[in-house]
Amino acid sequence: MMLSHRVGRACHVLVLVLCLSAAEDFDWSANNHDSFYYGTFPNGFSWGAGSSAYQTEGAWDKDGKGLSIWDVFTHKKGKTFLNDTGDSSCEGYYKIKDDISLMKELNLNHYRFSISWPRIMPTGIRSDHVNEKGVKYYNALIDELLEHNITPIVTLYHWDLPQVLQEKYGGWQNISMINYFNDFANLCFERYGDRVKYWITFNNPWSVAVEGYETGEHAPGLKLRGTGAYRAAHHIIKAHAKVWHTYDTQWRNKQRGMVGISLSGDWGEPVDITNQKDIEAAERYVQFYIGWFATPIFHGDYPQVMKDFIGRKSAQQGLGTSRLPTFSSQEKSYIKGTSDFLGVGHFTTRYITQKSFPSSRGYTYFSDWDVAELVDPRWPDPGSEWLYSVPWGFRRLLNFIKTQYGNPMIYITENGVSEKMMCTELCDDWRIQYYKAYINEMLKAIRNGVNVKGYTAWSLLDKFEWDEGYSERFGLYYVDFRNKNKPRYPKASVQFYKRIIKSNGFPNQREVENWRRKATETCSTSNQLLAAEEQRNTAANILRLIHDPLTSHMEMVTEVVVPTVCTLCILISAVFLMFLLRKRN
Ligand code: NOJ
Repeated sequence: MMLSHRVGRACHVLVLVLCLSAAEDFDWSANNHDSFYYGTFPNGFSWGAGSSAYQTEGAWDKDGKGLSIWDVFTHKKGKTFLNDTGDSSCEGYYKIKDDISLMKELNLNHYRFSISWPRIMPTGIRSDHVNEKGVKYYNALIDELLEHNITPIVTLYHWDLPQVLQEKYGGWQNISMINYFNDFANLCFERYGDRVKYWITFNNPWSVAVEGYETGEHAPGLKLRGTGAYRAAHHIIKAHAKVWHTYDTQWRNKQRGMVGISLSGDWGEPVDITNQKDIEAAERYVQFYIGWFATPIFHGDYPQVMKDFIGRKSAQQGLGTSRLPTFSSQEKSYIKGTSDFLGVGHFTTRYITQKSFPSSRGYTYFSDWDVAELVDPRWPDPGSEWLYSVPWGFRRLLNFIKTQYGNPMIYITENGVSEKMMCTELCDDWRIQYYKAYINEMLKAIRNGVNVKGYTAWSLLDKFEWDEGYSERFGLYYVDFRNKNKPRYPKASVQFYKRIIKSNGFPNQREVENWRRKATETCSTSNQLLAAEEQRNTAANILRLIHDPLTSHMEMVTEVVVPTVCTLCILISAVFLMFLLRKRN
């Protein structure tokens, strides 16, 4: 969870007055939130869903896999919600065929997943050992996807650094990661590049740097405030560039694929667009998120505003040099232009205003940019506390990317919403609304000339949500984590997304409304199935508990009380739904 999102919880009712802002590249004042647009996507638009290794695979210590920083982090007490771990997660490692049949049900064109570095190189170092069993698993996954006409989009680094590299060198704080990561990427190109044509070097490096090395909310849990994130990011950007060059010089001719990076960014909208300070603060917000990585990759250096702000604050601290590292001119030209496409992960938006942070509060990444975040209390927030549904922010971000980085080819690598209710709920109408509105804003952006080639719903399955454990469910498919087999159940949003894919967009109002109605009808049957299954499990658990006097009170609560309450919830909502349907007919 992003710390800044927590900071931004203070709610304010905001009224925006539209007017012209200073003429800049990106027009911050073009804030037209117009109505729904019916129409279709360009031919060949690619529809997908995504996952990542640590969040879904499970099998954390099977078949020769080495430890990752997340294995170690989650096994320490107090790091995740209820001390949840990804040890077994969705057991995706054992369910290639099952999961591909779900993708087929959705009619996906692509599936985005990540390769666990320590699964195929247990220590992270190629010369130590390559784990052929791990290599084989991804071969099987890729082959099965291709067999079903689903294009693999493969992320090389979705946060699971081999623990050995963390212990020996300090992970991304150390420059040696660049070569180790390059060796790992090279092995992946060598083994899978004949079939994989879309590579993403890093997923959301912002999180790796900030949450891993600044706030410590994520593995490896370091709190190197004011310096750790900048240093990690610096090495990540260089590692990305090196891998792109490796592909370019050694593999591109033969394999004809593409290498990009996936950046995540919230949109930042000025609170008052008549106020130049707010406009500048909002721009800083976007530059400190996505611009931090995109500007070096597209223009060769960090955003000027980052250099100015961090440089000035470092001087105020009495430091001789800026806490933001610098690139040499050779490095700048080496890094510039190293993305064949840009992966974009996007979930939410904030209103932004200028706020100076006094030096007495210390120098951190978050105080370096002098902004405050606000949210509109009318924005729906069905899931994670940081995730407000603000569809128009998505279009604004896409337009910003188009103007700032020369209209690059874009793949949306993550977009979706979670649910926070502890009750099992397969009738996820709010997720349908979220997807409908966000996908529609993407369609409008494409009509404005933004070059989006594909969209990845996040995520295919409910899964381990990092420090939030299993408490936040992003999946199109519900996973019953209490059942050892980790069965999957379709939520209503499966039916809805499937129809968007089939029609390649939104044909007309009547049809789209019909999809929604049908989706909510079918989910009540799935809800009943799941309720019956949960009842069976609860009964089995009660029997087991009666026979085991040592069972703790906690187990009683989590394994009996919670499921019983959930089952009751499902039954009540099923009866309620049936009542509603009958009334309508
Ligand atoms: C971005 C991360 O890449 C992904 O792993 C996570 O599930 C989503 N954010 C939602 O928090």
